[in-house]
Amino acid sequence: MKIEKAVIPVAGLGTRLLPATKSQPKEMLPVGRKPAVQYVVEEIINSNISQILFVTGRKKTSIENHFDPDPDLIKKLKESGKFSLLKDLEYEKDVSSFYYIRQSVQAGLADAIRLAKNFVGKEPFIVALGDSMIRSSDNNNLLKRMIDAHLKTKSACTIAVEEIPKNDVYKYGIVEVKDKTTGNVSEVKDLIEKPEIGKAKSNLAVAARYVFDPVIFDLIDRTIPDDGGELQITDSIRLMIKRDYKVHCVKLADGEKRYDIGNFESYFKAFIDFALLDDKYGYLLRQYLIQKMHKGELQHD
Ligand code: UTP
Repeated sequence: MKIEKAVIPVAGLGTRLLPATKSQPKEMLPVGRKPAVQYVVEEIINSNISQILFVTGRKKTSIENHFDPDPDLIKKLKESGKFSLLKDLEYEKDVSSFYYIRQSVQAGLADAIRLAKNFVGKEPFIVALGDSMIRSSDNNNLLKRMIDAHLKTKSACTIAVEEIPKNDVYKYGIVEVKDKTTGNVSEVKDLIEKPEIGKAKSNLAVAARYVFDPVIFDLIDRTIPDDGGELQITDSIRLMIKRDYKVHCVKLADGEKRYDIGNFESYFKAFIDFALLDDKYGYLLRQYLIQKMHKGELQHD
């Protein structure tokens, strides 16, 4: 069995990034040279998945424009010999097909995923959050490892998880794993959204990438909305576990890091890390920061 489809939910309101997101999607905010969501698409294409559905919403048309090939721009870049810029537009190539569906009311991530039901059909599929990037320092490919694990363990759901500092558990969905672990793959016993420090069963945080069997759509239908009226995917996955479906998690490898741009602290940190590693300007930026440090401008207040 092959996994050929991916879903990128990008319909959220991004209220934590106001006013930057008043009239533009947070997923289009630049992180270094590219909009955040372009890294997500490139990650998916690199794992040989070519059919991508965006779950979009109001004020999100710039995402469609970004992934729509622009022959005039390509012609101009070719004529002026700007081949390095052309390389950054490779995601537009014919090998990938982009589809769009609208979530008209932002009723939560599980509701957004539910809209992919007809697109997905009967095969397992990937969900990659449009505001979260996975950066790898070598040739690791998280999605490929997740797909392998999903098919090998015959799971109904496979979740990416990242080891985080124990004091940060209250910010994330945290998995509790069963004893059985093979390499970096473990069976999930439970999933708790933002546990108190000291009460968390692990320091493994859900990391914005999932593989689902289509059975997830039945479980989303049975999920009860939270106090804010939103359908949370964590609740649908918990329901899955309760009904004895197998759920596994795959740990990010050494050198892999998850970045999300959902709030200003994480967005600024992501921008700094990506900019510092930029091929052309990273060196200059590092020098700039070193100078600031020597002048005492990076001290704590
Ligand atoms: P968040 O949980 O960060 O929610 O979404 P949000 O609405 O975008 O942001 P805030 O809380 O208002 O600041 C995580 C991912 O899920 C998508 C978002 O676009 C983002 O990529 N999402 C979230 C949807 O597609 N639909 C929803 O109803 C909620």
